Amino acid sequence: MEIITIDSFNSILSNPNNSIITMKYKKPKLIENSNGEITKIFYPKKRWHSSNRRRPYALRFYKNAELLLTHGIKAPHITSLKYCPDIKTHMITYKKIPGENVRVLMSQGAKFITDVAKYIAILHQKGIFFRALHLENLLYQNGEFTLIDIDDVTFKNKPLSLRYRYRNLKHMFLVNEDKKTWNPQSVKDFLQVYFQITPLSFLSKKILSLFLINLNGSKHKMIII
Ligand SMILES: Nc1ncnc2c1ncn2[C@@H]1O[C@H](COP(=O)(O)OP(=O)(O)OP(=O)(O)O)[C@@H](O)[C@H]1O
Ligand SMILES: [Mg+2]
Repeated sequence: MEIITIDSFNSILSNPNNSIITMKYKKPKLIENSNGEITKIFYPKKRWHSSNRRRPYALRFYKNAELLLTHGIKAPHITSLKYCPDIKTHMITYKKIPGENVRVLMSQGAKFITDVAKYIAILHQKGIFFRALHLENLLYQNGEFTLIDIDDVTFKNKPLSLRYRYRNLKHMFLVNEDKKTWNPQSVKDFLQVYFQITPLSFLSKKILSLFLINLNGSKHKMIII
């Protein structure tokens, strides 16, 4: 990890060759560099009890990128990790991944449901619990997915339990920005493919279907398993 001064930090932000892609809390969050790389900035958390103090999110991102690769899952290829102690801020730079984010693709028609369902079933079989699972955090090109936004990933040494599968899928189906994509029919279509490559018992499949289809119809929203 490279330690940088506040001046170098500011010069990266003010470099005219770099363009700010997203802001968070009025601060630059993602920057695209002129050489086709992306820099993500991790500011310190305000909450004193945040786990970021013990295990900074940037370091988790770094470690998770390595671990995902060892599990055969594509993730950002990190080229540098910097830390500015003056403002307790980390910067991670990684290669821009070609392709489109899956939220955009799915909003153009549901033709990607099969591919997405297969991919997520594989993640779950590998015991990967990607907490920020939602369509915008998946990039897709030529039949291949890449996970981004990977600072919160748990690796189990066996396929995910029913409870974790439910939590993860529920999170994805309830994301506000994807309300138009996920409806009882598309969730059903998704689960049909997901179950094809998930060796769950008949009862477990029934339970997941019961709790996940109609999730947006508030009836099952509060059920926690
Ligand atoms: N390596 C990459 N290659 C191509 N596009 C990327 C890459 N990283 C991010 N993006 C684009 O930028 C968007 C936002 O990136 P990301 O999900 O990492 O940040 P975020 O959601 O704003 O961050 P956070 O949730 O941590 O606040 C992505 O949906 C994607 O479109
Ligand atoms: Mg994101």
